[in-house]
Amino acid sequence: MTDTTAPLPIARNVEALRATVRDWRRQGFTVSFVPTMGALHEGHLTLVREAGQRADKVVASVFVNPTQFAAHEDLGTYPRREAEDAEMLAGAGCHLLFAPSVQAMYPDGFVTTVTVGGPSRGLETDFRPHFFGGVAVVVAKLLNQVQADVAMFGEKDYQQLRVVTRMARDLDIPTEIVGVATMRDGHGLALSSRNAYLSEAELDIARRLNGVLAEAAIKAAGRRPIAGVERDAYTDLLKAGFERVDYVAVRRADDLGAFPDGVVDAPARILAAAWLGKTRLIDNLPI
Ligand code: PAF
Repeated sequence: MTDTTAPLPIARNVEALRATVRDWRRQGFTVSFVPTMGALHEGHLTLVREAGQRADKVVASVFVNPTQFAAHEDLGTYPRREAEDAEMLAGAGCHLLFAPSVQAMYPDGFVTTVTVGGPSRGLETDFRPHFFGGVAVVVAKLLNQVQADVAMFGEKDYQQLRVVTRMARDLDIPTEIVGVATMRDGHGLALSSRNAYLSEAELDIARRLNGVLAEAAIKAAGRRPIAGVERDAYTDLLKAGFERVDYVAVRRADDLGAFPDGVVDAPARILAAAWLGKTRLIDNLPI
């Protein structure tokens, strides 16, 4: 039984993390892992609960990873609230919080990069070229540090999920990568730590993203030409009140490649990124 009222143990460095995991392994426990950047919400807690279904012990990390932010992005203002996060994690059944410092993750002299091709091409990379390099290096490190049996990633960041899955396979990282369905509010808005930046008026507009994508997904599933579906969805997002749309794209679900015949003829995903004020929202749906 997990005592959900006890404070959650926190490991601040790899040695402390590994000592606990080693001890669990000695006792024959399986281990699951949920990487996060903190500012937790119900979406993260769903990952933690799912992790608890899949293994005896759950490790979650909270690390706001500087290498996945560009200089002009929100690294400095990204919400940080460790005590609250720890309490929420404990309540959801997490057994250990790994919360390393930037210095512990990237000590002086750190020079290694990880580049994943395939699914990291296009979409987010066209607008945030630094992003998957940063994600790949930190996730490779975290997976090596925790050495869990299974690790959970939200489908909300669908391209990230495909990139991490490809990387783990290519680098023979022995942790199974599991995607978990996106948690949404009552209006269909995908939960995200960055939703906290939205004003009430922006929130109303943000809640229309999912509807526009759902309509486009139906058209694409009916084999309407993808270019037209993407164009209409793009226009609909602007009409809904989004100030700028980075992309709306229909791609193959597994490797995020384009459909060469211009119609959906295999499992697909529609993905979008759009701006409201200073906030960039992403979402996606299966087709
Ligand atoms: O999805 C996130 O929160 C981050 O990109 C991750 C996977 C924790 C890596 O920093």
